[in-house]
Amino acid sequence: MLVLGLETSCDETAAAVVEDGKAIRSNIISSQVLVHAEYGGVVPEVASRQHLATVVKVVRAALAEARVQPEEIDGIAATCGPGLVGPLLVGLELGKSMAYALGRPVVGVNHLAGHLAAIFLEHATNPPPPPFPHVALLVSGGHTTLFRVEGQARTCLLGSTRDDAAGEAFDKVGKLLGLGYPGGVVIDRLAGAGDAKAISLPRALPGREDLDFSFSGLKTAVATRLFAFGRPEGPALADFCASFQAAVVDVLVRKARRALARENLCDLLVCGGVAANRGLRQALAAAAAEDGFSLYVPAPVLCTDNAAMIALAGTWALARGERGALDLSVDPGLPLS
Ligand code: KG4
Ligand code: ZN
Repeated sequence: MLVLGLETSCDETAAAVVEDGKAIRSNIISSQVLVHAEYGGVVPEVASRQHLATVVKVVRAALAEARVQPEEIDGIAATCGPGLVGPLLVGLELGKSMAYALGRPVVGVNHLAGHLAAIFLEHATNPPPPPFPHVALLVSGGHTTLFRVEGQARTCLLGSTRDDAAGEAFDKVGKLLGLGYPGGVVIDRLAGAGDAKAISLPRALPGREDLDFSFSGLKTAVATRLFAFGRPEGPALADFCASFQAAVVDVLVRKARRALARENLCDLLVCGGVAANRGLRQALAAAAAEDGFSLYVPAPVLCTDNAAMIALAGTWALARGERGALDLSVDPGLPLS
């Protein structure tokens, strides 16, 4: 079974072909970051126009790399939310149009379900994917959420951020430090050469028993410090990045450990763009060795937004018999049920 996945929920135009819910035949990602970097963040209307200009080329490239003719596709899966309304519409409307023209089924896929599915793609991880049930920590630019994952489309929300997402905090602090947009990956790189104990920064909600997160106080602490002492440079910048990253990672690790203990589970999946962060991967690996749980993290290219994860979640939905009608629309605030 060949499924074409389309992902356009934010600033990546992506198309992929996944075979039999496993093998990635192609995974094309066209990033708009250079366009949005000029504005210091994603401009929704600009993103919509970029998707419109790029999406057909990206789909053609995905089909060509997979050596698949459009008629050979068995189904189409497109992200229908959550995300930016204009960008979502570009991918979903193209998916529906192709499905109509080809006489194939189409399904709308929840972007978060895609992130949770990525680990089940072939070569996404070594060792093999987690068994059900497991705990998932989804950390991206828009979400910081803990789920209990019961099965392919069965999740239970354990906790979530009350304000900023972890990736958003990385990007906003990157901007304050003058590191451009998106700052997450730059902070990750600089933090590698810094001392995480150099600057004391706050950790929100660590003593509370709930599984919620909060990062806006940390962001304010960074802004206040930069206002008082100015932007650090050289080794001081590396120390600042390492200290900030440690503050985010510390809270993520504590809450993930708490979730595993509370749910009495011993398998932890970490996914979403921030799962590519080396500090987070190292800290979770150390916690796993100490507590005795198994850690699953997709390959970096499958952590950040991509369409292979959407094609896989779509394959599962099609196998369950789900079909999207041609009036299927997007929902920018679509929850994961
Ligand atoms: O999952 P994703 O590609 O898009 C959303 O669904 O939001 O995540 C993007 C987020 C951005 O905030 C980006 O800065 C962050 O993931 N990110 C990182 C790293 N790579 C991407 N944050 C910290 N360290 C990284 N290495
Ligand atoms: Zn995402």
